[in-house]
Amino acid sequence: KKERTLGIIKPDSTAKMGQILDVIYQKGFMITQLKMCQLNRNEAFQLYQEHQGKPFLDNLLNFITRGPVIAFEMMGPGVISAWRELLGPTDSAEARKVAPQSIRARFGKDNTENACHGSDSTTSAAREVEFFFPSTGPGRQNTAK
Ligand code: CMP
Repeated sequence: KKERTLGIIKPDSTAKMGQILDVIYQKGFMITQLKMCQLNRNEAFQLYQEHQGKPFLDNLLNFITRGPVIAFEMMGPGVISAWRELLGPTDSAEARKVAPQSIRARFGKDNTENACHGSDSTTSAAREVEFFFPSTGPGRQNTAK
């Protein structure tokens, strides 16, 4: 079974989706599902449930719900860590120092408005892909099979 991960172009960067998707394809990633949608507060809370109790959660929920996001599934060997490597550090200001070619360095602003998300483990990848692309229901296919 191939590894998969979930990427999100966040509300600060949807206007740059073309450039960001160009980078993703130039680096050889394979996008297998993709959609644009706007999350409500409950959905955002569900997505970021692992950050319950963190001091930045409220900021994060306000930001991620303020406009549409582009969510996409990618597949391939080692894709979880490869995508996080391309993203760079969480804080875009830090990314500009240590990984100037990374997506967060190039397209993000700070610790919250950091352009894109990437799943951090196989467990969170499975949960996050299922959140945006349910594998069951009318017209659904499980692309992981
Ligand atoms: P993301 O990769 O989407 O995962 C959780 C998000 O929480 C992260 O990107 C940031 O947008 C945000 N985040 C993580 N740590 C902090 C922090 N210390 N301050 C503010 N926002 C943060």
